[in-house]
Formats: sequence, C-alpha cells, structure tokens
Amino acid sequence: MEQLKQQIEQYKQEIAAFVAAGAEEVEQFRIKWLGTKGLVKAIMGEMKQVPNDQKKAFGQYLNEFKTLAETKLEALQASHSTVKDSASPSVDFSLPGDPMAVGSRHPLTLVRNEMVAIFKRLGFAVAEGPEIEDDWHNFGAMNLPEDHPARDMQDTFYIRKPEDGNGPTWLLRTHTSSVQARVMEQQKPPIRVICPGRVYRNETISARAHCFFHQVEGLYIDENVSFADLKQTLYFFVQEMFGKDVKVRFRPSYFPFTEPSAEMDISCLICEGKGCNICKHTGWVEILGSGMVHPKVLDNFGIDSNKYTGFAFGMGVERITQLKYQVNDLRLYSQNDVRFLKQFTGVV
Ligand code: DAH
Repeated sequence: MEQLKQQIEQYKQEIAAFVAAGAEEVEQFRIKWLGTKGLVKAIMGEMKQVPNDQKKAFGQYLNEFKTLAETKLEALQASHSTVKDSASPSVDFSLPGDPMAVGSRHPLTLVRNEMVAIFKRLGFAVAEGPEIEDDWHNFGAMNLPEDHPARDMQDTFYIRKPEDGNGPTWLLRTHTSSVQARVMEQQKPPIRVICPGRVYRNETISARAHCFFHQVEGLYIDENVSFADLKQTLYFFVQEMFGKDVKVRFRPSYFPFTEPSAEMDISCLICEGKGCNICKHTGWVEILGSGMVHPKVLDNFGIDSNKYTGFAFGMGVERITQLKYQVNDLRLYSQNDVRFLKQFTGVV
C-alpha cells in the first residue's frame, strides 16, 4: 500500500509538471495517462489488492488522482487547440456579430473625385496650388488689375494689404483660377489641367452662400483650340456626370479672363423641365462659367497669343453635389452631422 501511494505521489508530480509543446504531445499525454491502457487505469486496477476496510478511503484517493489527470488533460487541450476542438467549436457562429462602424467619404469628396475622373478620361491632369495667394495670381494675372470693378464680384478675405504698397497683398484665394495662373507660369503649351480646390469669399453664411466652397476649374491651351472644343468637352462632362438625357445651353456672359465668355446651364434634373424651386421655375440651372482664354492672360505668361488659343471653365463642387444628391442647404456640408454624412456610406 505504501509503495503504491509513493508511486501515485510521483505520478501526481509528473502530471503537474507536464508541459506540452503542441497538440501532438497533448494526445500523447492522454494516451499515456487516460488511454485504455493508460497508467490511471492500471492504478485503478490495483484496487483489488486493497484490504476491504481501507477500500473506501483509498478509492477516494484514487479518484482524486484520476480527476487530477483529467483536469490536466482538459487544460492542455484548451491551450493547444486540437482537431477535435475545431470539429466541435466552442464559438457559436449563429450569434449576431459586433457591427463594425464603417466611415464614409464626404459627399463633396465623392463628387470631386468623380469630376476629376471624368476629366482625366479626356486627358486632363490635376494641378493644385496654395489657398493663401498673392494678389497677382488671384487677380492681376487673370486680367483683373487693381480697381477693376469685377473684383467686386468676389468679396475677398484679405490677410495682408500693405499700406505703402511694399510687398505683395496676401489673400485667401477667391477662385482656383489662381492655380491656372501658376500652371501657365510654369508650363509651356500644350497645357491641359483641371484645378480642384477650396476657395474663400467674404459672404454671410446661409443656405445659399458660404464663406468657403469648392471649385474645379479647367484650362486647355494648344494650337487651334476653339469654342467648339470647349462646348464638346463640357457636354461630355455633364453627360458622364448626369446621364445621357441632360440638355445644355450656353448664355453669353462676362469674365475678365475669358473672351468671349459664356455660362452653361443644364436642364433641371429635379423637375425635368417642369419647373421647381431649384431651377426657379425656368427648367434650367446654371452650373458653370467658361470662355476662351483672354489673349492678355496668355501674354501675361509669355504664351504667344497669335499661335495659341485656349479655353477655361470653372464650376462649384457644391452646386454639382446639390444637383446630384438634392442637397439644398450649403451649411450641411460643413456641419459634419453624421446623420447627413452617413447617407453617403457605400457610395463610391
Ligand atoms: N473664376 C470664376 C468664378 O469663380 C469661374 C470661371 C469662369 C472660371 C470662367 C474660369 C472661366 O476658368 O473661364 O466665378
């Protein structure tokens, strides 16, 4: 009996000290101790030698030993997942999962990306420039000299206006035409770029006006560029953006940097021409300004206006987004209300 007890105590230590490197060793442990020819069974077989009056106490002792081996096996199996484990998983896959919060792109980003993609298909490259500009790139170079009345069309946020005329006047760009100026400064024709970006104007914030908004402008300069090219390019753009049924019309207009100039309207997509608030019951909505680049602008950058001609255009991303998604209040774009932004989840 003493010998048997000693043997069991030794076994206990061996079991407690056992560590498995992997599932295979766990299985070996199981066979060695708890298999049909395992040591636990063998020890249990010794019961018959125990005198009757000690059977109860010794039986308990043996059971404890058996439980020790079984508990150890369970622990080993839990830490080394075996084939048996994955066949009967402890995870219930039918339970609802933890929802993952997916963000979404801002509607203006979505529309700007789409606009850029359309013009890229026509061979336009993207050009960008600073939002803090000097007077020359924003106005002077674009044929808006100081005291030009058309400067009043764009209420400007000035950052620095030197009293004595020394040094440049700094301002927040009022249009991305300033990027056109920077491109003409650096590149020789042929030039074919679009300029997406944020612009600023000193306007009172309301549903229809904001102190900042976004534009995409385009500039194409080469030999023999005509007004027909301008019309076709813009017609292609609106068809890609709004669908094949959209109609366009051009109205004569005025911009200092283009001559002749035109504004382009598209047929109202909301009421399909029947008349609604968006189109002010005319069936048409204005979406952009455009024209043939003024020869003076070309001359400002040493581009020979006898050899080269070009067209330019500029439009608001908010306006296009309003028409595409029927967003009727400009303030929604910058309030960052998730209930608004969430509606664009999944729009690519
Ligand atoms: N810069 C004008 C604006 O912000 C839009 C514009 C009109 C841009 C005609 C152009 C253009 O490039 O040719 O109102």
